[in-house]
Amino acid sequence: MKKRIGVLTTGGDSPGINAALRGLGKAASGVYGMEIIGFQDGFTGMAQGLTVELEGSAFSGILTTGGTILGTNRDRPDRVIIDGVAKDATDQILENYKKLKLHALVCIGGSDAQNSAYYLMQHGLNVITLPVTIDNDLTGTDTSIGFDTAVEVAAEAIDRLHSTAISHHRIIIVEMMGRETGWLTLAAGIAGGADVILIPEIPYHTEKVAEAILQRSHKGKRFSLVAVSEGAISQESVRFFEKARLANRRLRQGEEQSEIEQRLDTIEKHAAGDTLHLANRLEDFTKLETRITILGYLQRGGTPSATDRVLATQLGTACAALIQEGVFGVMVGTRSGTVVTTPLAEVANQTKAVPLDHAWLQGARLVGVSLGD
Ligand code: F6P
Repeated sequence: MKKRIGVLTTGGDSPGINAALRGLGKAASGVYGMEIIGFQDGFTGMAQGLTVELEGSAFSGILTTGGTILGTNRDRPDRVIIDGVAKDATDQILENYKKLKLHALVCIGGSDAQNSAYYLMQHGLNVITLPVTIDNDLTGTDTSIGFDTAVEVAAEAIDRLHSTAISHHRIIIVEMMGRETGWLTLAAGIAGGADVILIPEIPYHTEKVAEAILQRSHKGKRFSLVAVSEGAISQESVRFFEKARLANRRLRQGEEQSEIEQRLDTIEKHAAGDTLHLANRLEDFTKLETRITILGYLQRGGTPSATDRVLATQLGTACAALIQEGVFGVMVGTRSGTVVTTPLAEVANQTKAVPLDHAWLQGARLVGVSLGD
């Protein structure tokens, strides 16, 4: 009997999702004779039974396209939003899996996809995942699909901003995505020749950033490019929140204490990535005109790079082969160019931060980049 597999994309989209779907689909149907059912808009679609039959031709012409042909959102099995109302759709999802007689479910995406897949695995489904995120923050793979393209886009933006920064003798701060990790900012910052790179893993001293910029100014370089992660945070903020937490623990107890702790967590999250505040402070310190560019969703859109297409094809096809072998409960990733699998238990709810001794950080320092520390 033909094996039938379900596939969905969930969480933020990334360039290369369609290439991964194509690799998976072509190998699964063309080589292993599987039937493939796509779910529209992630777990919301799976809960509602919104299926698309993906036949061979569905996988043609999508290698180079951006976005996801299946649609996506941020819903989780235990929290989907239907007609504006959030509900736990775990039972419907399990039922639809059974009703459609699926042999396995492939979840494609970043941390949201890994967490939800692990959850469904614990509810007895055969699940397997592919790592697709511009953040590159998943453990279990050297690189996630989409990262390379986002780095290219962001590096090109820095290149373009250089000429205008030079002409106007300005500081230009470029804010990049990446959530709580600095992979994207670090790679694009190095590739684009940023003078300062600020990432969440290294809380920065604003004065030191300003000093680095002034030193450049004294050497006649009256412009500076600052690449900053959306999750970067200043040492001042870190210290402030440490003190506030300490005071909270000293002064309060029980429910009141944990309520304040939670509020501090939320406020701290907002304090990270406060690029406007950073710009104002740098302008005050250096007296150089300062401008901001937030790259935002430009980094997620558009055609995937050749490197991402290759990675997506490698991992997508490997995923089909693993399903054929009966391997489930894993994420399919890559280590030094080889396909590896990692149990979802080790990938879900984990974040791969930039290690402080990473060679990229060392390289950046050695070419004179200030990391704000
Ligand atoms: O995880 C990918 C990502 O683009 C992050 O870099 C960013 O913080 C987040 O998604 C934005 O999420 P949303 O698409 O829900 O606005």
